[in-house]
Amino acid sequence: MASPRGEFRSRMGFILAAAGSAVGLGNIWGFPTQAASNGGAAFLLTYLLLAFVLAYPALMAELLIGRHTHRNMVMALGSLPQSRTLAALGRLTGMGGLLTASMILSFYAIVAGWMLGFAASYPLDAVGLTAASEWLVTFTVPRNLSLMLIFMALTMAVVLGGVEDGIERWSRRLMPLLIATLIALALYVLTLEGALTGLSIYLLPDFGKVLSSDLLIDALGSAFFSLSLGVGTMLIYGSYLSDTENVPRVGAQVALLDVGIAVLAGFLILPAMYVADARGVAIFNEAGGLLSEDTLIFTVLPALFETIDTAGIFLATAFFILMSIAALTSSISMLEVPVAYLIERHHLPRGKATLLAGGFIAGFSALVVLNFGTLFGAVITISTRYSQPLLGLLICIFAGWLWQRDALLQELRKNDADAENRLFWRIWPVYVKWLCPVIIGIILVQSVI
Ligand code: PHE
Repeated sequence: MASPRGEFRSRMGFILAAAGSAVGLGNIWGFPTQAASNGGAAFLLTYLLLAFVLAYPALMAELLIGRHTHRNMVMALGSLPQSRTLAALGRLTGMGGLLTASMILSFYAIVAGWMLGFAASYPLDAVGLTAASEWLVTFTVPRNLSLMLIFMALTMAVVLGGVEDGIERWSRRLMPLLIATLIALALYVLTLEGALTGLSIYLLPDFGKVLSSDLLIDALGSAFFSLSLGVGTMLIYGSYLSDTENVPRVGAQVALLDVGIAVLAGFLILPAMYVADARGVAIFNEAGGLLSEDTLIFTVLPALFETIDTAGIFLATAFFILMSIAALTSSISMLEVPVAYLIERHHLPRGKATLLAGGFIAGFSALVVLNFGTLFGAVITISTRYSQPLLGLLICIFAGWLWQRDALLQELRKNDADAENRLFWRIWPVYVKWLCPVIIGIILVQSVI
């Protein structure tokens, strides 16, 4: 039966869309560079552990709430508790998610715009349009503004198409392309001199570093950002999931894909860094640590590509297209959060809702571009360091404490008559009730201090 709301047509469509949301700039550049500076394989193992022990349960909380209510985050969280006060708190949390998703999109679109600029600059340079190519990679307000607007327009165009014909269709097209490009690039870079040094740093654990509490916090933070948690993106995707799907299973597949692609990106980025090193491009700062993430992406890698002649042009273009795709499949999930709210709560048609939410976010993003020095870092810190974990904590509390156990079990039984005998049911409720809130709480307190 056709659903009045959007609904993913196929399980694969959902998995690719949710993994597309999860796999973003965070995986392909954040994770590998963090692993490089933090004990290589030791970080990798910590990250894997945290992703499955903590981030997966939180992901399940969002997916299950979404699938159960078939509503956007504001209305979903507002409908779980019995009491009026708690329902109001639910709506407030939902609004917090909506605002945070919009804030994340406002800085994400700027960075993604740079990726588009870099992707276009190499072919332009190759055909002799040097000035245009230069303009695209030089930090100026007009460039930042125009590329951000182009990226926002792309995001809005996909979201405008709706769940099946926009989000699902484009995720199905772009995600396989992303994975294929990533593998091809990694295989090529691994043949270059210096790559094996990077590989060994990635794969040989330095356990001395794993035990530091700083590292644990970093790894957990990236696991949460990486799985798009706390801001309602997974909740809204879960709400478009059919009642016949087994949520714990598809959720695990999404988490596996996300982590798998982050790990795969490590096989590209770390070897590439050491190839650059072998070619005389600086990758360490004066203190002997690795250069910061943005320097690595926008300075070290381009410098590396320049040392590889013609193949370098293809490599560079492919790499920045890869980054742009990863960003786009994430940005559409962020925009869908306010759009779904406007459609369901204020009964706007999708076109209007997309223009309104997208236009508003682009306007805010323009403000950030115009006040880059003061706003850019602040928006990132507020949204990802404080707001995201806080909302993640609240969502776990809603799932663990304010959602009645019977109702929860019924939700799981929709497609699995035997749900109460599963390992998931034995472990997960306790997890979201106690472990997730406590640990996220500790991280949050630590990060405030
Ligand atoms: N998971 C995305 C990434 O790794 C970022 C993201 C955060 C997407 C929050 C949606 C919501 O880049």
